Amino acid sequence: MQTEFRPENMARINTPELANAFIDEQIAALKAQIGDKKVLLALSGGVDSSVVAALLVKAVGKQLVCVHVNHGLLRKGEPEQVIKVFKDELDANLVYVDAVDRFLDKLAGVAEPETKRKIIGKEFIEVFAEEAKKQEGISFLAQGTIYPDILESDGVKAHHNVGGLPEELNFELVEPVKFLYKDEVRMVGKALGLPDNMVYRQPFPGPGLGVRCVGAITRDRLEAVREADAILREEFDKHGLAGKVWQYFTVVPDFKSTGIKDNKRTYEWPVVLRAVNSVDATAASIEEIPYDVLGIIVNRILNEVKGVNRVLYDLSPKPVATIEWE
Ligand code: XMP
Repeated sequence: MQTEFRPENMARINTPELANAFIDEQIAALKAQIGDKKVLLALSGGVDSSVVAALLVKAVGKQLVCVHVNHGLLRKGEPEQVIKVFKDELDANLVYVDAVDRFLDKLAGVAEPETKRKIIGKEFIEVFAEEAKKQEGISFLAQGTIYPDILESDGVKAHHNVGGLPEELNFELVEPVKFLYKDEVRMVGKALGLPDNMVYRQPFPGPGLGVRCVGAITRDRLEAVREADAILREEFDKHGLAGKVWQYFTVVPDFKSTGIKDNKRTYEWPVVLRAVNSVDATAASIEEIPYDVLGIIVNRILNEVKGVNRVLYDLSPKPVATIEWE
């Protein structure tokens, strides 16, 4: 595929005024491209697809059909936020697909990380394609491709690590933010009025919590990852760390150790905390989290998360470790 390059005279969007000018320009261009036809978008709730959705709602309203697939590997509160922002507040045409059982059944017993990724990616395409086939008269497929995606992966958004939609669903592409860098997408998202926790969201892998529930995913261990992650994020927000740390999350490995609770011995999982700083994810250093904040997080996880009796802080930089655990 021929790589398309950002026009040389395109100004860097670094002020709200430039973001608003970009929005006006794109709305006009989207109206011209789409006319009275329908356009489909896989809306994950990440910043790129959310910005594309908000632009398209402004440009073509209900001609946009957003499909939000809940694969069960999203962070706590994410599917609810997608519904609240897009359906309730922006009045978008949103199809919410609860595919949790379907994904978790397919993943049951699968421990090898790349096989897990492939299953998640393949299943995602299948669920999305099924929903696409249920929609009548779709002419366009919108995508949250951004400029680094084009430069790094020949135009294919790498999120789901598998190919595209089946032949018969090869719609014409609509990619309104394809020449924007991430900071510009955020600037546009802010100007569109999207909530800060959507716009300034930390990087989140396509396979989601699936790669943080190490080994074969079980529902109870996945719940432990999700609950511990929610506590970590809440405390980082509360203590002003959210904007300072590039990526922070929890991991639950598939082994247990002994503990003691109410005078009884327990045999439960550890939760690993990870908080790293990075520029582009190729290398990462460890963030120094104040001990008192770590203490609060440890206490909350041990008291609130079921099945956990130990909390560890991963001090390994990348390299030699990777950011994720698998
Ligand atoms: P690693 O673990 O390789 O991660 O140091 C580097 C960055 O990439 C993210 N990551 C992924 N993103 N699909 C994605 O879209 C994936 O399969 C995947 N694996 C890792 C990771 O969160 C980090 O920001």
